[in-house]
Amino acid sequence: MTTTPFRGGFAPVTEEITAFDLEVTGRIPAELNGRYLRNGPNPLSLDDPSASHLFVGEGMVHGVRLRDGRAEWYRNRWVRNAAVARRLGEEPRPGPTHGGMDFAANTHVIGLAGRTFATVEAGSLPYELSYELDTIGACDFGGGLPGGYAAHTHADPVTGELHAMAYFFGWDHHQHIVIDATGKVTQVRDIPIADAPMLHDFALTERYVVIYDLPVTFSMAHAEKGMPLPYAWNDAHGARVGLLSRVTGEVRWVDVDPCWVFHTLNAYDDGDEVVVDLVSYPQRFVDARLDLGGTPTLDRWRIDPGAGKVARTRLDDRAQEFPRMDERLTGRAYRYGYTAATRDLTDVIYPADTELEDLPDEAFDNTLIKHDLERGTQESRQFGRGAYVGEPVFVAAGAAEDDGYVLSYVNNPARGAADLVILSAQDFTGEPIATVHLPARVPLGFHGSWIVD
Ligand SMILES: [Fe+2]
Repeated sequence: MTTTPFRGGFAPVTEEITAFDLEVTGRIPAELNGRYLRNGPNPLSLDDPSASHLFVGEGMVHGVRLRDGRAEWYRNRWVRNAAVARRLGEEPRPGPTHGGMDFAANTHVIGLAGRTFATVEAGSLPYELSYELDTIGACDFGGGLPGGYAAHTHADPVTGELHAMAYFFGWDHHQHIVIDATGKVTQVRDIPIADAPMLHDFALTERYVVIYDLPVTFSMAHAEKGMPLPYAWNDAHGARVGLLSRVTGEVRWVDVDPCWVFHTLNAYDDGDEVVVDLVSYPQRFVDARLDLGGTPTLDRWRIDPGAGKVARTRLDDRAQEFPRMDERLTGRAYRYGYTAATRDLTDVIYPADTELEDLPDEAFDNTLIKHDLERGTQESRQFGRGAYVGEPVFVAAGAAEDDGYVLSYVNNPARGAADLVILSAQDFTGEPIATVHLPARVPLGFHGSWIVD
């Protein structure tokens, strides 16, 4: 019997809420003017097929608008693809589709050229949202996208270009897409890749786009069985990492030991080598579960394209995910990273029959971590039992790399509702600068952004 992964912190909410002038403990910095948005899967009903796999639930975006030291509003809205619109008694929004796919984008939400987009991978288009999170429609950037888009993007802080890597089960390639700061697609490159592997995230340096080509590939057998996510571990597919030159478009492939990677923390060029910091899952990550146990760890890959070798070191061996950093330094040498260790996420990625005592160190759960990669140290901020923590998003304030805030939705079990916690990145374990008390739960989800007004 399979249990729905939408339990515990992932249990969906059933209502869309609009609330104004939220209660705040502490003081919201007056310089924070914008919206903190986060996307995640929130099935309309646990009886729906979309509730059978964590990655396929309909997207819901949760947002808090901060202005002049006040928490002006909280809103949560389903992303209305045609099916969600109909279920909610609304007209489907007109818009393009790719490959007959129309998915209520559930993975990330980003700001681009003054617009807001919910994004997802594997062939579907992004959905554009209004400032207040109402769905405008699917978007192919004026016909600029030949196919679908991607969940994860990385912006070059110097050029302002937004990079993405798209994949689709019907393609014999991945697609590198560059969108400029005005929202225009300026470059599309096809990268030949066999077996239609899944590619969740990638990395960007000043010279390269770093592509993970790992052994989780499209599975016709899974598709024919009607599995909601027809991708499976494939021992016949090698594991390698590609350095795509941003200038020439040539790719240098280097073999790595088989593993799985969802997320990049950051990457940068170091002489002729490339350093990539990421969260790595041990071999045999099947159907978004660790088939043979193990732990997702924060690792550093030092890629030497000349020698054709990748040296791997462990930065932190505790189970953690959702790495973020100061995006003013995307693709550049940097010092600080932020990750989350969340009990309910750990519970989902371990095999269904894992006994609780076999799971990684419970004392470490529901913790936000600040990594000092220069000193090799961490500061851990624990929130306690039931206080499941979401992705920590860094918002810069001053010039120094960690002069800013870390924002995250944290469940408040006493209230049965979420708090938006605003930490000082430089006083990570001190009292939060502000805690915004939301009127409802925010289920655990995936990724989000601070989008400045
Ligand atoms: Fe992700």
